[in-house]
Amino acid sequence: MIRISVAKGDGIGPEIMDAVLQLFEAAKVPLKYDFIEMGKTYFLQGYNSGMTPSAKESIENNCILFKGPMETPKGKGMKSINVTARKTWSTYANRRHFLSLKGVDTVHSKAGIPIDITIVRENIEDTYGGVEHMNSNDVAVCRRFITRKGSEQVHRFAFEMARKEGFKKVSCGHKANIMKLTDGLFLETFYEVAAEYPEIEANDIIVDDLCMKLVAMPQRFEVVVLPNLQGDIVSDLCAGLVGGLGFAPSSNIGDNICIFEAVHGTAPDIAGKNIANPTSLLLSGIMMLRHLGLGEKAAEIENALLYTLEQGVHTGDFGDRSIPASNTTEFTQAIIQNLGKKPEQSEARVAGSETQTWNKPALPLVRPMMVSPRSEGEKLVGCDLMIDSEKKPEEIADIIERLLPDPFRLLNISNRGTQVWPTGSILTECVNHHGCRIMLHNKDSEVSSQEIWAMIRTISNELFVTSMEMLRNFGEKQGYSLAQGQ
Ligand code: NAI
Repeated sequence: MIRISVAKGDGIGPEIMDAVLQLFEAAKVPLKYDFIEMGKTYFLQGYNSGMTPSAKESIENNCILFKGPMETPKGKGMKSINVTARKTWSTYANRRHFLSLKGVDTVHSKAGIPIDITIVRENIEDTYGGVEHMNSNDVAVCRRFITRKGSEQVHRFAFEMARKEGFKKVSCGHKANIMKLTDGLFLETFYEVAAEYPEIEANDIIVDDLCMKLVAMPQRFEVVVLPNLQGDIVSDLCAGLVGGLGFAPSSNIGDNICIFEAVHGTAPDIAGKNIANPTSLLLSGIMMLRHLGLGEKAAEIENALLYTLEQGVHTGDFGDRSIPASNTTEFTQAIIQNLGKKPEQSEARVAGSETQTWNKPALPLVRPMMVSPRSEGEKLVGCDLMIDSEKKPEEIADIIERLLPDPFRLLNISNRGTQVWPTGSILTECVNHHGCRIMLHNKDSEVSSQEIWAMIRTISNELFVTSMEMLRNFGEKQGYSLAQGQ
């Protein structure tokens, strides 16, 4: 018996979790459950992480969390419990599978276009780093983190999965044409990792083109790996292709802890009515069984689900409207009755390679540090100052140029990322948030951070510096982007 932690969740969570666990019981799945205290109730009881200390201990002991959807109370400044859980335990790869199912009609199924796409979404970094600031009364700024080590982890997961499970192609979705440093690093790392898997075709695609092609020709894609926010959006697009969020399973994979959950939320509008569709959570549970080496049980349950869907059994959110909808209990019972049966209109699942025994990972005793070797020739060459001011760019330039000590010079001022001084268009609309790039007179020299902070102190005598970024070069690589028009 493998012991796992189970959190039923909020809203429809308990209904769909009970349905899945009933099915597991009927199929004699060898799991033991620790039911843990996690979700909205525990936020409201004052646990800021949304779980009790004993829930955290259970998850860290068992290393597997099977969870229902959870609600984060709104407007209380609390971070999403789901995102916190994924980030705290470094579940860096979010794997989501989108498969056309017989009995779940979609535009594509009606057109005879089968869909079988796996999205691997980076799960820790990007805008979900969650550092946002109001840089002035009405200018909000979000910092986006992409790291080489974090990107490597998710790309390696995608290629290892492809090698193990026989995928032939991995595509990287990105916006590196615009975000040259952040998405650029994600893409660069993708090809570095891809080189270690020569038998797997690797290509990349700009995310907007990807969205268009996913809708127009989804059969071209097998595995798509994406940064966090883009992966979030693209995976909902893929859910739409196969019949909605009710059919999309999700696993959050890390080196130590893995979390399995449905893609959808708590569906407060139908909570407590016994009409929710448990398929997404069930498919996530099936992913979990495969992860745990219980491939035979996974195949048996999935075959029963596929057979049931083929028979036209459906909950109210999908399926043939001429057949009366089943409620959650009836839908679950129908699958239980069909345990042992195999689908007739699609290929039956087999245990495959997922029968290797799962061993609980040995947890690290110290917090892991993921650092790359430093590059030769790191140099500090200036800084970007963000100034909160209603003054015009020309007036700000005059003040800064008057105050700037040697060896600094004001290179340019940009507003919302577009250069407005020394050159620019009079038609560029400005807000009270000016990016002032300060560099050295001598392009080849460098400066100390103490000199930069002393210079900022001088500027602060007359202007409000609301934030600052150091400008650094890393060998030949320039560590900052240029403003539009620079
Ligand atoms: P939602 O996914 O809960 O609901 C969107 C629509 O889909 C609703 O009409 C709902 O009735 C329907 N729906 C969702 N799951 C269904 C199911 N299994 N069967 C039948 N219909 C289903 O999204 P919404 O309304 O944006 O979010 C509600 C709450 O869920 C929020 O508090 C949100 O933060 C939370 N949430 C939690 C997630 C998680 O725990 N991983 C993920 C997404 C949202």
